[in-house]
Amino acid sequence: MSQFKSLIDLAKSRRSIYKLGKNSPVPDSTIEEIIETAILHTPSSFNTQSTRLVLLLHNEHERLWDITIQTLGALVATGAITEDMWRKSTLPKLQSLKAAYGTILFYEDPAHIEPYSAKFTIYKEQFQPWAEHTNAMHQYFVWMALGELGFGANLQHYNPLIDGSIAETWGIPKGWRHIAQMVFGSPEVIPSEKTQKPVEERVRVFGKK
Ligand SMILES: Cc1cc2nc3c(=O)[nH]c(=O)nc-3n(C[C@H](O)[C@H](O)[C@H](O)COP(=O)(O)O)c2cc1C
Repeated sequence: MSQFKSLIDLAKSRRSIYKLGKNSPVPDSTIEEIIETAILHTPSSFNTQSTRLVLLLHNEHERLWDITIQTLGALVATGAITEDMWRKSTLPKLQSLKAAYGTILFYEDPAHIEPYSAKFTIYKEQFQPWAEHTNAMHQYFVWMALGELGFGANLQHYNPLIDGSIAETWGIPKGWRHIAQMVFGSPEVIPSEKTQKPVEERVRVFGKK
Protein backbone atom coordinates (compact mmCIF):
# COMPACT_ATOMS: atom_id res chain seq x y z
CA MET A 1 0.00 0.00 0.00
CA SER A 2 1.26 3.50 -0.76
CA GLN A 3 2.21 5.74 2.14
CA PHE A 4 -0.90 6.95 3.97
CA LYS A 5 -2.03 10.41 2.86
CA SER A 6 -4.40 12.76 4.62
CA LEU A 7 -7.83 13.23 3.09
CA ILE A 8 -6.90 16.79 2.13
CA ASP A 9 -3.69 15.69 0.39
CA LEU A 10 -5.63 12.97 -1.43
CA ALA A 11 -8.23 15.49 -2.59
CA LYS A 12 -5.49 17.80 -3.86
CA SER A 13 -3.66 15.06 -5.75
CA ARG A 14 -6.72 13.28 -7.21
CA ARG A 15 -6.92 13.60 -10.98
CA SER A 16 -8.46 11.80 -13.95
CA ILE A 17 -5.77 9.44 -15.24
CA TYR A 18 -6.53 7.93 -18.63
CA LYS A 19 -3.31 5.98 -19.25
CA LEU A 20 -3.55 3.12 -16.79
CA GLY A 21 -1.74 -0.19 -16.55
CA LYS A 22 -2.26 -3.63 -15.08
CA ASN A 23 0.01 -3.41 -12.02
CA SER A 24 -1.64 -3.39 -8.63
CA PRO A 25 -0.05 -2.25 -5.36
CA VAL A 26 -2.52 -4.38 -3.34
CA PRO A 27 -4.25 -7.78 -3.39
CA ASP A 28 -7.70 -7.84 -4.99
CA SER A 29 -9.24 -8.42 -1.57
CA THR A 30 -8.16 -4.87 -0.57
CA ILE A 31 -10.03 -3.43 -3.55
CA GLU A 32 -13.07 -5.47 -2.55
CA GLU A 33 -12.74 -4.06 0.99
CA ILE A 34 -12.86 -0.51 -0.39
CA ILE A 35 -16.04 -1.30 -2.29
CA GLU A 36 -17.61 -2.74 0.86
CA THR A 37 -16.45 0.28 2.89
CA ALA A 38 -18.09 2.59 0.34
CA ILE A 39 -21.34 0.63 0.56
CA LEU A 40 -21.36 0.51 4.36
CA HIS A 41 -20.14 4.00 5.23
CA THR A 42 -21.18 6.43 2.48
CA PRO A 43 -24.31 8.36 3.49
CA SER A 44 -27.55 8.17 1.50
CA SER A 45 -30.60 10.44 1.60
CA PHE A 46 -33.04 9.22 4.29
CA ASN A 47 -30.59 6.30 4.70
CA THR A 48 -32.13 4.68 1.61
CA GLN A 49 -28.90 2.71 0.92
CA SER A 50 -29.93 2.59 -2.75
CA THR A 51 -26.44 2.45 -4.34
CA ARG A 52 -25.19 -0.82 -5.84
CA LEU A 53 -21.57 -1.46 -6.87
CA VAL A 54 -20.15 -4.10 -9.20
CA LEU A 55 -16.40 -4.77 -9.21
CA LEU A 56 -14.94 -6.21 -12.41
CA LEU A 57 -11.33 -7.41 -12.32
CA HIS A 58 -8.90 -8.97 -14.79
CA ASN A 59 -10.73 -10.90 -17.55
CA GLU A 60 -14.10 -9.55 -16.41
CA HIS A 61 -12.81 -5.97 -16.68
CA GLU A 62 -11.50 -6.71 -20.19
CA ARG A 63 -14.83 -8.29 -21.07
CA LEU A 64 -16.62 -5.05 -20.18
CA TRP A 65 -14.44 -3.03 -22.50
CA ASP A 66 -14.75 -5.64 -25.29
CA ILE A 67 -18.54 -5.29 -24.93
CA THR A 68 -18.20 -1.49 -25.11
CA ILE A 69 -15.91 -1.69 -28.16
CA GLN A 70 -18.38 -4.02 -29.86
CA THR A 71 -21.42 -1.87 -28.95
CA LEU A 72 -19.90 1.44 -30.04
CA GLY A 73 -18.21 -0.14 -33.06
CA ALA A 74 -21.66 -1.17 -34.30
CA LEU A 75 -22.63 2.53 -34.34
CA VAL A 76 -20.10 3.24 -37.09
CA ALA A 77 -22.28 1.32 -39.57
CA THR A 78 -25.30 3.46 -38.58
CA GLY A 79 -23.35 6.70 -39.05
CA ALA A 80 -23.83 7.74 -35.41
CA ILE A 81 -20.02 7.59 -35.07
CA THR A 82 -17.97 8.48 -38.12
CA GLU A 83 -15.26 6.08 -39.32
CA ASP A 84 -12.68 8.82 -38.70
CA MET A 85 -13.82 9.50 -35.14
CA TRP A 86 -13.90 5.78 -34.39
CA ARG A 87 -10.36 5.19 -35.65
CA LYS A 88 -8.74 8.33 -34.24
CA SER A 89 -10.58 8.83 -30.99
CA THR A 90 -13.27 6.38 -29.78
CA LEU A 91 -11.44 3.09 -30.34
CA PRO A 92 -8.06 4.24 -28.92
CA LYS A 93 -9.85 5.59 -25.82
CA LEU A 94 -11.73 2.32 -25.30
CA GLN A 95 -8.55 0.30 -25.82
CA SER A 96 -6.75 2.42 -23.22
CA LEU A 97 -9.59 1.78 -20.75
CA LYS A 98 -9.30 -1.96 -21.42
CA ALA A 99 -5.56 -1.73 -20.65
CA ALA A 100 -6.36 -0.82 -17.02
CA TYR A 101 -6.67 -3.16 -14.02
CA GLY A 102 -10.36 -3.06 -13.20
CA THR A 103 -13.67 -1.23 -13.43
CA ILE A 104 -16.32 -0.44 -10.85
CA LEU A 105 -19.88 -0.08 -12.10
CA PHE A 106 -22.12 2.28 -10.15
CA TYR A 107 -25.86 1.64 -10.02
CA GLU A 108 -28.93 2.89 -8.18
CA ASP A 109 -31.74 0.53 -7.21
CA PRO A 110 -35.06 2.44 -7.61
CA ALA A 111 -36.85 -0.23 -5.56
CA HIS A 112 -35.11 1.29 -2.53
CA ILE A 113 -36.00 4.87 -3.46
CA GLU A 114 -39.63 4.68 -4.61
CA PRO A 115 -41.11 3.69 -1.18
CA TYR A 116 -39.56 6.84 0.35
CA SER A 117 -40.88 8.96 -2.49
CA ALA A 118 -44.36 7.57 -1.86
CA LYS A 119 -44.14 8.01 1.91
CA PHE A 120 -42.59 11.48 2.16
CA THR A 121 -44.79 13.22 -0.37
CA ILE A 122 -43.51 16.75 0.28
CA TYR A 123 -40.08 15.60 -0.93
CA LYS A 124 -41.50 13.35 -3.66
CA GLU A 125 -39.60 15.03 -6.51
CA GLN A 126 -36.35 15.22 -4.54
CA PHE A 127 -35.61 11.52 -4.09
CA GLN A 128 -34.41 11.12 -7.68
CA PRO A 129 -31.80 13.93 -7.51
CA TRP A 130 -30.84 12.83 -4.00
CA ALA A 131 -30.15 9.33 -5.37
CA GLU A 132 -27.77 10.94 -7.90
CA HIS A 133 -26.05 12.79 -5.06
CA THR A 134 -25.79 9.61 -3.03
CA ASN A 135 -24.30 7.75 -5.97
CA ALA A 136 -21.81 10.56 -6.62
CA MET A 137 -20.70 10.41 -2.99
CA HIS A 138 -19.90 6.72 -3.45
CA GLN A 139 -18.02 7.53 -6.65
CA TYR A 140 -15.90 10.18 -4.97
CA PHE A 141 -15.12 8.00 -1.95
CA VAL A 142 -14.01 5.12 -4.20
CA TRP A 143 -11.93 7.47 -6.39
CA MET A 144 -10.11 8.83 -3.32
CA ALA A 145 -9.66 5.40 -1.72
CA LEU A 146 -8.20 3.99 -4.93
CA GLY A 147 -5.82 6.98 -4.94
CA GLU A 148 -4.78 6.19 -1.39
CA LEU A 149 -3.88 2.64 -2.45
CA GLY A 150 -1.74 4.03 -5.28
CA PHE A 151 -4.12 3.51 -8.21
CA GLY A 152 -5.04 6.08 -10.82
CA ALA A 153 -8.65 6.25 -12.01
CA ASN A 154 -11.08 7.92 -14.39
CA LEU A 155 -14.85 8.15 -14.62
CA GLN A 156 -16.81 7.06 -17.72
CA HIS A 157 -20.44 7.09 -18.90
CA TYR A 158 -21.01 4.56 -21.66
CA ASN A 159 -24.42 3.81 -20.16
CA PRO A 160 -27.12 3.38 -21.35
CA LEU A 161 -25.61 2.03 -24.61
CA ILE A 162 -23.94 -0.91 -22.91
CA ASP A 163 -26.56 -1.60 -20.22
CA GLY A 164 -28.37 -4.50 -21.89
CA SER A 165 -25.21 -6.49 -22.63
CA ILE A 166 -23.80 -5.84 -19.16
CA ALA A 167 -27.01 -6.90 -17.43
CA GLU A 168 -27.02 -10.11 -19.43
CA THR A 169 -23.31 -10.85 -18.92
CA TRP A 170 -23.21 -10.35 -15.16
CA GLY A 171 -26.85 -10.98 -14.22
CA ILE A 172 -27.49 -7.40 -13.10
CA PRO A 173 -31.05 -7.08 -11.73
CA LYS A 174 -33.39 -5.54 -14.33
CA GLY A 175 -34.46 -2.58 -12.20
CA TRP A 176 -30.97 -1.30 -11.34
CA ARG A 177 -30.18 2.00 -13.04
CA HIS A 178 -26.64 2.24 -14.38
CA ILE A 179 -24.99 5.57 -13.47
CA ALA A 180 -21.23 5.41 -14.20
CA GLN A 181 -18.10 3.32 -14.72
CA MET A 182 -14.89 4.00 -12.80
CA VAL A 183 -11.78 2.56 -14.45
CA PHE A 184 -8.63 2.12 -12.37
CA GLY A 185 -5.09 0.81 -12.70
CA SER A 186 -1.46 1.68 -12.25
CA PRO A 187 -0.98 5.34 -13.18
CA GLU A 188 1.25 5.43 -16.28
CA VAL A 189 1.34 9.22 -16.77
CA ILE A 190 1.47 12.36 -14.69
CA PRO A 191 -1.59 14.42 -15.66
CA SER A 192 -0.97 17.83 -17.17
CA GLU A 193 -1.66 20.99 -15.18
CA LYS A 194 -5.39 21.68 -14.76
CA THR A 195 -6.75 25.16 -15.42
CA GLN A 196 -8.68 26.51 -12.45
CA LYS A 197 -11.35 29.20 -12.55
CA PRO A 198 -10.68 31.87 -9.89
CA VAL A 199 -11.57 30.68 -6.38
CA GLU A 200 -12.96 34.16 -5.53
CA GLU A 201 -15.68 33.66 -8.16
CA ARG A 202 -16.63 30.31 -6.74
CA VAL A 203 -16.42 30.70 -2.96
CA ARG A 204 -18.11 33.23 -0.70
CA VAL A 205 -17.27 33.45 3.00
CA PHE A 206 -19.23 35.43 5.58
CA GLY A 207 -18.49 36.05 9.25
CA LYS A 208 -14.83 35.07 9.11
CA LYS A 209 -12.79 36.21 12.16
C1 LIG B 1 -19.78 13.87 -12.81
C2 LIG B 1 -18.57 13.67 -13.68
C3 LIG B 1 -18.72 13.06 -14.91
C4 LIG B 1 -17.60 12.79 -15.71
N1 LIG B 1 -17.76 12.09 -16.87
C5 LIG B 1 -16.68 11.77 -17.60
C6 LIG B 1 -16.82 10.94 -18.76
O1 LIG B 1 -17.91 10.48 -19.10
N2 LIG B 1 -15.70 10.66 -19.47
C7 LIG B 1 -14.48 11.12 -19.12
O2 LIG B 1 -13.49 10.81 -19.80
N3 LIG B 1 -14.31 11.91 -18.01
C8 LIG B 1 -15.38 12.23 -17.26
N4 LIG B 1 -15.24 13.00 -16.12
C9 LIG B 1 -13.91 13.54 -15.77
C10 LIG B 1 -13.84 15.07 -15.88
O3 LIG B 1 -13.73 15.47 -17.22
C11 LIG B 1 -12.65 15.53 -15.04
O4 LIG B 1 -12.89 15.16 -13.70
C12 LIG B 1 -12.45 17.03 -15.12
O5 LIG B 1 -12.02 17.41 -16.40
C13 LIG B 1 -11.43 17.52 -14.11
O6 LIG B 1 -10.20 16.82 -14.24
P1 LIG B 1 -9.56 16.01 -13.03
O7 LIG B 1 -10.46 14.84 -12.73
O8 LIG B 1 -8.20 15.57 -13.51
O9 LIG B 1 -9.49 16.91 -11.84
C14 LIG B 1 -16.32 13.23 -15.30
C15 LIG B 1 -16.19 13.87 -14.05
C16 LIG B 1 -17.29 14.08 -13.25
C17 LIG B 1 -17.11 14.72 -11.90
